[in-house]
Formats: sequence, C-alpha cells, structure tokens
Amino acid sequence: MLEIENLKTNFNTYDGVVKALDGVNLKIEDGEIFGLVGETGSGKSVTCYSALKLLPKAGEVVDGNIKLNGEDITNASDERLREIRGGEIGIIFQDPLSALNPVMTVNEQIGEILVLHQNAELQKLALEKEIPTYKSEKWKASPGVEFTIMAFCISFISLFVMLGQWRFSLPFLFVIMLMILRDYLQRENPASALDLMVIDALSRVKLPNPEQIANSYPHELSGGMQQRVMIAMALAGKAKMLIADEPTTALDVTIQAQILQLIKDIQKEENMSVLLITHDLGVVAETCEKVAVMYKGKIVEQATVDEIFSNPKNDYTKGLLEAIPKGGKERLKVPNLEEASVL
Ligand SMILES: Nc1ncnc2c1ncn2[C@@H]1O[C@H](COP(=O)(O)OP(=O)(O)O)[C@@H](O)[C@H]1O
Ligand SMILES: [Mg+2]
Repeated sequence: MLEIENLKTNFNTYDGVVKALDGVNLKIEDGEIFGLVGETGSGKSVTCYSALKLLPKAGEVVDGNIKLNGEDITNASDERLREIRGGEIGIIFQDPLSALNPVMTVNEQIGEILVLHQNAELQKLALEKEIPTYKSEKWKASPGVEFTIMAFCISFISLFVMLGQWRFSLPFLFVIMLMILRDYLQRENPASALDLMVIDALSRVKLPNPEQIANSYPHELSGGMQQRVMIAMALAGKAKMLIADEPTTALDVTIQAQILQLIKDIQKEENMSVLLITHDLGVVAETCEKVAVMYKGKIVEQATVDEIFSNPKNDYTKGLLEAIPKGGKERLKVPNLEEASVL
C-alpha cells in the first residue's frame, strides 16, 4: 500500500518558486488499479517523481509523508530507494524510447535489473537446471577490445609479410588462431539462468518471439513493443506495485487499447497495485476502479470510477467529463432544419 500525505513540492525557477504540489493526499491499496487524472501541468508526474525521489535538481519536496507498506520512506537512504525502485515499485513512462538505453540490447537491460533485484532467484534457477548463472563467455573481452586486438594482429602480419619477414608474423597468426579456436569451443554456450529469466520476463508481457526481441536494440522495435519491453523491465524485479505515467499517450489508439489490456491482465494475474497516470478520463473509465482528479497541484475529487461518471461533485471534474468525445449516435445526429433556419 502506498500512502501519500500532504505532499508539497516546489520548483525553484528564475521567476521564483513554483508550487507544483500543494498538499496532495493519495492512498493506493494493495491489488487495486488507481487512476490519477488531470490536465497537462496539473502535477501528476511531479506527484510520482516526488514519491520516488526522482525529481530534477530544481524540484524539492518541502512537506508531507510517503509511506510504503507502513514504512516511512520520506527520508529513505539512496540505497533503500534503489531497492524500492524496480524491486518494490516498477515505473513506466510515456516515451519508452527515451527511457530505454539505445546502445544496450533488451537482453542486457532486463538482465541488469534481474541481477540487481533477483539475484537469489537467478542462483536458484542456475543450481536447479545445472546451467551457468550469467553468460558464460568467460574468455571474451568487450567487442571494442576484441576488435582492437584483431586489427593489431592483422596489421603486424601484413607489415611483416610486406617486409618479406613472414616468420615474424607467426606469433600474431597464433593469437588470431587462438581467438578463432576459443569462439569455436564456446559456440554452443548453454543458455544461462539470466537468459532464461529475461525470456520469461518478455513472455510475461506477451511479446511474440522473445528470443529474437531479447537480442534487439530498442530502436529496432515498434512503439507498442518498446512499451511492452518497458513493462517487462518494470516487472522484472517482481515489484508488487506499478506506476505508469501516461503509458499510452505516445501510442496509436489500437496499440493503446492493447497496452491497457496488458496492464489490466498483469494486474489481475499478479495481484499488483497500479497507479495509472493519464490526462484521459476515457482511459480511466476503461481501466481503473478508483480515481483521483488533480487540478493545479491538488486532488480536487476522489471516488470510484462509477461515482465520478454518474455523479461528479467538482466543477473541474464535470468539465473533464464533458471533454470526453461522445458516442457515435449523438455526434452523427442530423441537424434539425427548423432550428438551423432560425440561425
Ligand atoms: N522542471 C521543472 N521546473 C519548473 N517547474 C516544473 C518542472 N517540472 C514541473 N514543473 C511544474 O510542475 C507542474 C506540474 O508538472 P507535471 O507534474 O509534469 O504535470 P503533469 O500533470 O502534466 O504530469 C507544472 O505545471 C510546472 O509548473
Ligand atoms: Mg506528466
């Protein structure tokens, strides 16, 4: 359970202090999907960044309390926060491409999280299956070093051959042959426990061909797939809570529906709690049980989704509801000619 009490966050800007959050209260119970809705700039992202201490330098939490499963984490140490992020609370953002590392494969990125948060599980799996825990390419340096050694050897060989002193090139030839032999002996690397758990993490978010996706770089994947990879990463540490900050805003409508469905399915399967942040009440209606409406750094209304839609109390909430596009029938109504002639 995540409890946020009277959270106040300021930003120090050139124009003075901006009060981004002005006493936010939120309570997300175990196993529920909670929607946080409000227009752009109302303070939704700042709420989740403040709770997880991910604010930029200019931002500062000036008051309030944050409790995770009863533990006060308002002043938690950096080490504890690293455990919490990923291990207890998974986070996904609007733009998966900027949150993923462009020069690391999916396998490496999910692997990092597993090593950080699931090490005991990894060791256990390796023992059970009698396979190595991590990749077993023991004798391989980084690709850059490998390339440099190879280039070095080839340059010397060609130099000595050109000078007609081919005998001096033999040691370099020997090095190259050793490298080739090494690759040959390691050609059938058994899958490591880490590999298996990465594939498992990708299968959980229903990605087809997880083996192939594991070896891809983020830019090789479509937006929907990238967001699935992000969700797989957020869940890899077996977090019991997921914070999703506008997870579908950057996606096409059809992909958006698929990702929301995925979040709903996973929430059910794993009995997680989800904080779904969005500016779109339509998304909340489809996905959440409870919702808080945020306006100018405050929660102005909080209720079940049914209550908000049938009986909104706050004027701002009413405005948001009216902004949702109405169903086809009303929009396609043929204009009344008598009324039209009056105009
Ligand atoms: N880096 C920043 N510097 C100054 N002010 C900021 C910064 N980030 C956010 N704010 C302030 O916090 C308010 C809430 O922002 P945010 O939480 O990102 O809104 P949203 O609801 O769209 O996620 C903004 O309107 C802005 O005034
Ligand atoms: Mg935001």
